[in-house]
Amino acid sequence: MADREYGFDTLKILAGYDSADNKYSVSPPIYHTAAFDFRDTEHAENLFTYKEAGYLYTRVGNPTVTYFSERVKALEGAKNAVAVGSGMAAITFTLLNLAAKGGTILASPYLYGGTIDSFDRLFPEVGVKIKLTRSVLDPAELDKELAESDDVKGIYLESISNPNAYLPDIDAISKVAHKYGVPVVVDNTVATPYIYRPLEHGADIVVYSATKGLTGHGNIIAGLILDNGKLDYYTEDKYPQFYEPIVMLKGKSPKDVFPDNFFIFRAILVYLNLLGAALSPNDAYLGILGLETLSERVAKQSSNALKIAEYLESSPAVEWVRYPKLSSYKYKEVADKHLTRGGGGLLSFGIKGSKEQEALFLNNLKLFHYLVNLGDVRSLIVNSPDTTHSELTDEEKELADIPANLIRISVGLEDVNDLIKDLDQAFKAAGLLDADSSAA
Ligand SMILES: Cc1ncc(COP(=O)(O)O)c(C=O)c1O
Repeated sequence: MADREYGFDTLKILAGYDSADNKYSVSPPIYHTAAFDFRDTEHAENLFTYKEAGYLYTRVGNPTVTYFSERVKALEGAKNAVAVGSGMAAITFTLLNLAAKGGTILASPYLYGGTIDSFDRLFPEVGVKIKLTRSVLDPAELDKELAESDDVKGIYLESISNPNAYLPDIDAISKVAHKYGVPVVVDNTVATPYIYRPLEHGADIVVYSATKGLTGHGNIIAGLILDNGKLDYYTEDKYPQFYEPIVMLKGKSPKDVFPDNFFIFRAILVYLNLLGAALSPNDAYLGILGLETLSERVAKQSSNALKIAEYLESSPAVEWVRYPKLSSYKYKEVADKHLTRGGGGLLSFGIKGSKEQEALFLNNLKLFHYLVNLGDVRSLIVNSPDTTHSELTDEEKELADIPANLIRISVGLEDVNDLIKDLDQAFKAAGLLDADSSAA
């Protein structure tokens, strides 16, 4: 199917799946199998050496998982895609694939806490240096940084960041990175392709935690890696890992076997295959169901989030609010230009008062779920500095703009007036608002 002929909302319903391949089953079947029969020994050899396309073992490929990744590929406008067992697997496999022979990844400090934790603890163990620096977000500073170093293998950032909902100018950042032949990786988890598609803004690789708003029901752990198919950055001198023969490929390299898809192919062959964080077909199926309502969910979450952000900004219980559609937003110009479908469901705010009052506020909420996930149909709330970002050092928290009183909200699909009333009564219970004041 020439997927790009269709609009986003059509693609989210039908891309990547043809019922004629499955006895006209309108809903994609769940291929609940660990392995697939070989027709004969020749078929086995062909599959093992990638001479023939097909499935042999679910850790490295399964039709239901492919339907899921093909659908996201169409929504993202990507060339190649693979679905994996979690967002962390997608991030780790991507960065290991870029820096397989060592080198540095320059990363924005505005990232999910687990990502920063992996940068501090996992990557140094395997010889990959990750430098967290705000210069990634400033094209002039990035230019200087890249001019001074010749071992940078990739730039890493989040589009709409967790927890501050910052959207940097990815067009400008990519332009500078490409001047130095460095690919740009964007974690687009918070944004989802409904409101922002990084490949259209110059990024080369997109990663997702599909656990979040992409699938949207808080019922699976999943991840994806997608690329734009522009692979000429990976020259043999700088990225020899794509040109080295692999025994399993009978002496051929990933570049020899899949010249148009060697980045993701190597990630599958080496990391998905050997580290093994495969997505289960059952979860891929739930992911496909979630994608079917992506636009409707994110549109409503965006309109609910804006109303909540405006309520919070007017509340005497709140010091500040970060949300892309507020006039106070740090990256307002970028957001106004690029977030034409809404600001998404994530916002953060600084709560006034003591830590005890913050605890009273959180403990008195009735509708918001107090937990670490985001992008769910339910509204979620969390004190990020003490939970999702608690692994960060004080310096990293400062660099990431995460003060001790930050509260993150992921807005769901409930009646927004009920959500605002719930916040209001919890502020009152915490003694942060007068008992007789009324919600906006
Ligand atoms: C922006 C972002 N990226 C990646 C991850 C990791 O994803 P997962 O939990 O699916 O491994 C998270 C998890 O919270 C996240 O918020």
